[in-house]
Amino acid sequence: MSGAGRRARTVVLVSGGGSNLQAIIDRNAGGALGLELAGVLSDRPGVRALERAAAAGIPSMVVDFAEAGTREAFAQRLAVALDGLQPDIVVLAGFMRILAHDLVNRYLGRMLNVHPSLLPLYPGLDTYRRALAAGDAWHGSTVHFVTPDLDGGPAIVQYRVRIRTGDTADTLRERVQRGEHRVYPDAIGWLAKGRLGWRDSRAWLDGRPLAAPLQVDEPDGP
Ligand code: GRF
Repeated sequence: MSGAGRRARTVVLVSGGGSNLQAIIDRNAGGALGLELAGVLSDRPGVRALERAAAAGIPSMVVDFAEAGTREAFAQRLAVALDGLQPDIVVLAGFMRILAHDLVNRYLGRMLNVHPSLLPLYPGLDTYRRALAAGDAWHGSTVHFVTPDLDGGPAIVQYRVRIRTGDTADTLRERVQRGEHRVYPDAIGWLAKGRLGWRDSRAWLDGRPLAAPLQVDEPDGP
């Protein structure tokens, strides 16, 4: 994505706690991931992610969905805010709004998301409860390129955790998020440094198309 020496201007879209944002900030210390964290955009005021941005000295902006009134007005305001920051890379980190197709298409190959399921299983919401209700043996999270197909873009890396007896949505979420905090900054860094790319509607890593996402499993133990 960026040439040698230049950091990729990166904007992170958030809606809530921002633990993934924090992981990205921490891992990028000293520019280690190749990112210039140029801005954080939230669709709601008062969220913890905005405090994390402030503490790290990253400019942030709220494009308030409630205030925009309509989906169209929100989409337009968000597009103006995002384009104004001129990002090389757009990172969705717990952003809870569906983006307009034209915005997604403008950043195709440069926009990543992390979704808490082993896609293509369980696109959409409530993935922990759904995996538990189905009696699945594994759950996890997928880092993928964002395309207009919701939670359907090419997958890059999956973090898998084995579902344990007695797991609840909360215990599962905690373990899955621990993995997200590891694999999501990795993938963002690969994109920033040009190891990860987008060609012919596919994800490429180190010069080869990814036939399947990389797989990282939770280490055994408590
Ligand atoms: C993450 O677990 C991610 O899978 C999902 O939303 C959650 C956001 O958490 N897309 P946080 O705001 O990064 O703590």
